[in-house]
Amino acid sequence: MKLTIAVDGPAGAGKSTIAKLIAERFNIMYINTGAMYRAVALFAMRRNIGSEDADGLIGMINSLEMHFDKNKLIVNGEDVSELIIQPEVSKKVSEYAAVKEVRQHLLKLQQDMSKKYSVIMDGRDIGTAVLEDAFIKFYLIASAEERALRRYRELMEKGIDVEFESILEDINKRDYTDSHRELNPLRKAADAIEIDSSKLSIEEVAEVMSEHIENKMKKYGMTVN
Ligand code: CDP
Repeated sequence: MKLTIAVDGPAGAGKSTIAKLIAERFNIMYINTGAMYRAVALFAMRRNIGSEDADGLIGMINSLEMHFDKNKLIVNGEDVSELIIQPEVSKKVSEYAAVKEVRQHLLKLQQDMSKKYSVIMDGRDIGTAVLEDAFIKFYLIASAEERALRRYRELMEKGIDVEFESILEDINKRDYTDSHRELNPLRKAADAIEIDSSKLSIEEVAEVMSEHIENKMKKYGMTVN
């Protein structure tokens, strides 16, 4: 049986680091849907296509071939993993992610991936839209300051020079746009397990989630393929 795990939550809640750990532990594929929205933003910015130009965006998206290779996002043969985490992309991504045509296209790609593989997917609308029937759903939260601090450290470690205040501002702005957009806004699915990661380490959160997953798998006599 296919295992489908949905992880949602606001920016910087630790979703992607934790999802990677769980993917390894259960030997399933990790799909970072935020990276896909970021790639759309990156290519639109490169080609000077604004978020108001739906036709331009559709044409552009249709020319992009995206796939994950060992957690790296490859678009038209180019590894864009480092480029898409740059602050310029972070500032613009939610604008592009609010465009109906962009969401429809990526939602379909993500659902196709989940039909082929056992997956853990993280994003904003996984439990509520992409994997509405996921085997198990999680919703990760943490205070905005804690999330900004994590993102600040992560970027500095990667040699990307940023200011804490500007990261906090970006996170607050994105949270607002993501939870107020018309189409599939960020919200907790009714059947999602909420975990506040403010006072837990990444490993502790992954441990709590793994226990939930294992217990549910046992209950349903499930093994992964
Ligand atoms: O890693 P971080 O929490 O900063 O965000 P991300 O997961 O990389 O997502 C970047 C942006 O993509 C979000 O702020 C959303 O605007 C958008 N997104 C979305 O709309 N739906 C998803 N399933 C995933 C991301």
